[in-house]
Amino acid sequence: MSAIKEPVVIHKGLDNVYVKESRICFIDGEASKLFYRGYSIEELAGHSTYEETAYLLIYGSLPTAQQLDKFTRSLESYRSLEPAVLELIRSLPSRSDPMDVLRTAVSALGSYDPRPMTDDMNVRIDKSLRILAKLPTIITTFDRLRNQKQPVLPRGLESQAAEFLYMLTGDEPDPGDVHALDVALILHAEHEMNASTFACTVTASTLADMYSIMTSGIGTLRGPLHGGANEAALRTVLEVGTPSKAENYVADALAQKKRIMGFGHRVYKTWDPRYLILKRYAGELAAKKGQTQLFDTAVAIENSARKHLEGTPIFPNVDSYSGIVFHLLGIPTDLFTPIFAMSRIAGWTAHVIEYLETNRLIRPKALYVGPVGLPYIPIDSRSGSAGE
Ligand SMILES: CC(C)(COP(=O)(O)OP(=O)(O)OC[C@H]1O[C@@H](n2cnc3c(N)ncnc32)[C@H](O)[C@@H]1OP(=O)(O)O)[C@@H](O)C(=O)NCCC(=O)NCCS
Repeated sequence: MSAIKEPVVIHKGLDNVYVKESRICFIDGEASKLFYRGYSIEELAGHSTYEETAYLLIYGSLPTAQQLDKFTRSLESYRSLEPAVLELIRSLPSRSDPMDVLRTAVSALGSYDPRPMTDDMNVRIDKSLRILAKLPTIITTFDRLRNQKQPVLPRGLESQAAEFLYMLTGDEPDPGDVHALDVALILHAEHEMNASTFACTVTASTLADMYSIMTSGIGTLRGPLHGGANEAALRTVLEVGTPSKAENYVADALAQKKRIMGFGHRVYKTWDPRYLILKRYAGELAAKKGQTQLFDTAVAIENSARKHLEGTPIFPNVDSYSGIVFHLLGIPTDLFTPIFAMSRIAGWTAHVIEYLETNRLIRPKALYVGPVGLPYIPIDSRSGSAGE
């Protein structure tokens, strides 16, 4: 018996495999361009808000003032947590990784929805928006509880960014800080068929409910090869400490074949356009907060890395300065990936809805290279080696 009937190409990592046509996001990795629904990321970061961007991604066009108002009010009305979900968060160990808490809480939300399954796209979107609106509440509630503080209830502030900063600290958020976080949320909201978006798409293709879909996305984003690089980039900057130590750090790291965090990308072979925007905000925030050494160290690492990596397609990516921005906003390092999820859920939703319009169950194949037709060995006669 032959296991293989035809020549097979294995696409490890699914590099360059297209799973659908899409109208959501275009990345030109050679020209340093990123577009959401045809609008450049520079235009959106310069003029839009996260709410407007989320609307654009999910519904396909920029909202009118009236549509945006209705959308924002819906999000405000969805932000509170069910008491049972709050109790669930309270019951989790305070040493839990916040991404585990997020995944558990979003999964639990499904149990409190009397009808989680639906074929209606508008109802699907509504369920997703309920999750989107609750993510800042889940993240900040856990952070406060683990620090022996009472959770701060949502106050009906108009933006995801303002409400997040308010619920994190209990203080009136600074408008400049809100704006910087809002821009960071816009920049993280969507990035084509990345690993977590694909995970959501696979789950959606089985016609599973939105809670299961978003839980898949959160679980996939949690990995250090996907959502965790900005934490690592910030740790590097904090470890290096001063600009004068940057050159030695970079030279040693590259000599030891280590990667410089915040550099390199599977799609961008030049500047990641999001990096340029975040670098500007990181610089402005650092000056405002009197933490210029942190920013100057990051710039020195970047300059050294660019010098050493000259002639390669390895350039700074979004993570080189996003961690600095979050850190300067007073956000604990292990909340960086949850913030990424809080933003990316807009892109996940857009892709899921688009895929379901012409759904086909995603079911790839694995090339079997093991034996077939082995005689069954009774348990008493087995010598035992595998799994010992
Ligand atoms: C993001 C990343 C996984 C993309 O990598 P990729 O396109 O799949 O490229 P590869 O991992 O195949 O690396 C290709 C070469 O570039 C080198 N390289 C890639 N990123 C590098 C980095 N950040 N620093 C130093 N060298 C790097 C690799 O060592 C490899 O060199 P080699 O051919 O001599 O072995 C990779 O650049 C990386 O690990 N970056 C650091 C983590 C990071 O910032 N992630 C956030 C991405 S938004």
